[in-house]
Order: sequence, then C-alpha cells, then structure tokens
Amino acid sequence: MSGLFHCASSPRVERLSEGLARRAPLDLSVLPENDLVRHHVNLSRKNLCVDSSFYPLGSCTMKYSPKAGEAVAAERGFSSAHPWQKPEEVQGVLHVLGELSRDLAALTGMDAMCLYPAAGAHGELCALKTARQYFRLKNDPNRTEVLVPENAHGTNPASAAMAKLQVVVVRMNNRGRVDVEDLRKKLSARTAVLMLTNPNTLGLFETEIDTVAKLVHDAGGLLYYDGANLNAILGRVRPGDMGFDMIHVNLHKTFSIPHGGGGPGAGPIGVKAHLAPFLPGPFLVQESNRWSWTEADSRSIGRFHGAHGNFLNLLKAWVYLHLLGDEGARRVSLAAVLNANYLQEKIKPLLPVPYGAGRCMHEFVASALPLKDETGVSAMDIAKRILDEGMYAPTVYFPLLVKEALMVEPTETERRETLDRFVALMRTIVEEARTHPERLHDAPVRTPVGRVDEVRAARNPVLK
Ligand SMILES: Cc1ncc(COP(=O)(O)O)c(C=O)c1O
Repeated sequence: MSGLFHCASSPRVERLSEGLARRAPLDLSVLPENDLVRHHVNLSRKNLCVDSSFYPLGSCTMKYSPKAGEAVAAERGFSSAHPWQKPEEVQGVLHVLGELSRDLAALTGMDAMCLYPAAGAHGELCALKTARQYFRLKNDPNRTEVLVPENAHGTNPASAAMAKLQVVVVRMNNRGRVDVEDLRKKLSARTAVLMLTNPNTLGLFETEIDTVAKLVHDAGGLLYYDGANLNAILGRVRPGDMGFDMIHVNLHKTFSIPHGGGGPGAGPIGVKAHLAPFLPGPFLVQESNRWSWTEADSRSIGRFHGAHGNFLNLLKAWVYLHLLGDEGARRVSLAAVLNANYLQEKIKPLLPVPYGAGRCMHEFVASALPLKDETGVSAMDIAKRILDEGMYAPTVYFPLLVKEALMVEPTETERRETLDRFVALMRTIVEEARTHPERLHDAPVRTPVGRVDEVRAARNPVLK
C-alpha cells in the first residue's frame, strides 16, 4: 500500500477509479529492529507450541518439525517457483514431486499417488470422488453407500456426505475394533467404499483386517485407508499389502511440517492401478531425465487444486524422508508406539484407559470419568491445568466413545525425560483434584487468556 501512495503519479495508479487512490500519506511507525524483533518474540511466547513445549494432542501428531525442512523451503529456487512456469524452468520442483510420489507409493503399497489435496479431509473427498467415478464408468452407479465404523475419524462421514454419498455406520465391538458381524450385515450391492481409520481413533490396530478386507472386496466394494495415523506403522506394514485400494496420508502429521488450526497441510492420496486413470490431472511424467505434465483424459475427475498442491509442504515432507532414510522411517513408528505405550502404562494408575487392556499403537485414550464422579474435576479442568504448567494438553472429549476422554499422543520426537515430566505433572494434578479441586476449576490462571466460556463461544461465535 505504501508503494501505491509513493507512486501516486504513476500511470498505473492514475487508472484507479475515483475514490480508490490514497489521499493522505500512510502513517507508518518507524521502529528500530530490536523493538520489532522483541514484539514478535513476545507475541510468540504467548502461545504454546511444539518448539516451546511438549504437545501430546492426540490425533494431531504434533511432532517436532526439523528446521532443515524450513531452510530448504526458503531456498529461492523453490520458494519463488510458480505453478504456471514451463516445466523446463522448474525441473528441480518437478523432480521433488516425482520422487515424493514414488517414495509415498512405496511406503503405502500403492501404485499411483496424487499430491494435489491440501489436507487430510480434502484427500478423503478427492478419493471418494475418484471411487464414484470408477463405479459410474463401470456401469455400477448404484454403489452410493460409504461404510464408516464408529471408531473412525469424524472427517470420514463428513467427506462422504460432501461427495454426495450415503453414510452407513458400522458398530465397534467391546475390544474397540470393527464389529465384523455388523460389517457383514451392512455390506450390500449398494456398498461403494469402506473407510477405515487404522490405527483407529482409540489408538488400536484393527486386528481382523484380513477378514474385513476380504468381506468388502467380496461384496464388490473398495477399501479406503484413512492413513492420517501412518505414524504408527510407517516402514513396518503397508496398507496396500493389507488389501486397501485407496489411502490418504496426512503429510503434515506423519512427515513433520508445522501445522495446527486447520492448516497449512498436504493430504496426498494413493490408489491401486485400477483407480489411477480416474485421479485428478494433470499427471507428472518422466521421460529419461526430464519431467513434464500431461493432461488427464475424460475418465479423470478433473482438477482438484488451483496449483500443483501445497508445494512447499510437499517439499518439507521430501526433506524429512531424505533425513530419515529407510531405517529412520522404521524407527519413527517404533519410537512413536514405544512412547505411547510407556505413557499408557504410567498414566493407567492415575486415570483408567477403557480400551487399554493390551498394547496401544501411537496414542491412547484415558478417561477422567471416575475422577469426575469422585471430585467433580472434569477432563476439561485437567487440560486447562496442564496449560498453566507450560505444557500443551491432550485432546479432550474425543473420541466420543470414551466419556471424559483425554487422548494422548506423545509422538516419537520426545525423550523419556519429557514423558516422565508429563507423568509427574499428571500425578500432581490428580492429587490436586482431591485436595484443591478449585485450582483445577479456575485454571488456567497463568496463560494470557483465562478460562473462556466454551458453550457461549460455540453457540454465539464471533468470527471477525
Ligand atoms: C484419523 C484422521 N483422519 C483424518 C483427519 C483429517 O485431516 P485434516 O485435519 O488434515 O483434514 C485427521 C486429522 O487430524 C485424523 O486424525
């Protein structure tokens, strides 16, 4: 805007319609650099983030993102690339996209990847539209039902509804896994897709996965793997080998990339060969050492992103995979699962874990219900009190399958000392619930914003 004012006599500004040009100089304060830096640093300190504290927000995989990814993404050749540049001008960018596609396909057991979706839920929608197109062109348009287990992530039914498909809920058994008998009953000639979150939202691996896969395929349906929790199985098992036809991967969870508050993200999808022609185009192709784009044919669902996906996020995931290597990728899932099980065993004596009889995967869900019945202190009170002590809180009240839920996901990037500090804090908080419950009801008192009225905010959102 200041450029516009200073160029007030340039021909470009003269073309502005009456009333649009600035009439008075812009009142810009002049600050020394140190004041500006302090202002921004102090602002950043008002927030809890992975760079400043432990962040066990279940289902969100708030792992530490290596700064190397930021450094590479800031390189001018990458940061100033434009999606409409000619392929010969951006061979490096296309090389990254091509290599990332191959690596993700190899890690998930799929034949083709589509890097366009900008978030996990966007990937779900893209995959469901691809599945619909597949059935339409197979002259099987009546397959319009999407089966979603109770223990799936909430975006699954929402995406099915967005894709104009009908949601059929499949029950969960008392071990927190898909109820195979109920699945059998819900399958029919109308079944298009089963969407399975695995590990599911209780942090449990679906042990009857082979039976589930066979039942869905025998009924003529497709299997969709919600791979947002890929952290738990990376480099160990591949959804493609379990029989799945489609997957989305939350790069902003499993492959680092700072995220939160809904973005920015990247949710590529992978498919088996029989679904590849229906993916959005254009497709990236490599001939000898040269990469280029080729338009998709009429079988494709069309474009799904204005550019070629959130490139700088895709680049950070590529850097992360290069930092890890094959063995590093395997160690990610090993450490993510080990950390979660370590915490689960330490938290169990303080708060019960309703589906925690066996091992969990990368996260687990504890319940504050007995503590609430005894002391009046809720899962929300506990979460707010954790903030006062400078750590972030677990996800609360999700999944709905567990009452007074606290969903804990430590991720693989935390040391045992950090996990022990969290356990010590939880022990103090549970003791406080019995001795000084008001401390928990009043929390947080040390954060810039105190307890907000969540009910009023939900009923009466002020969005500007
Ligand atoms: C299991 C699962 N599926 C889907 C999603 C949706 O991903 P996004 O928030 O990127 O849309 C999430 C988000 O955390 C998730 O945990």
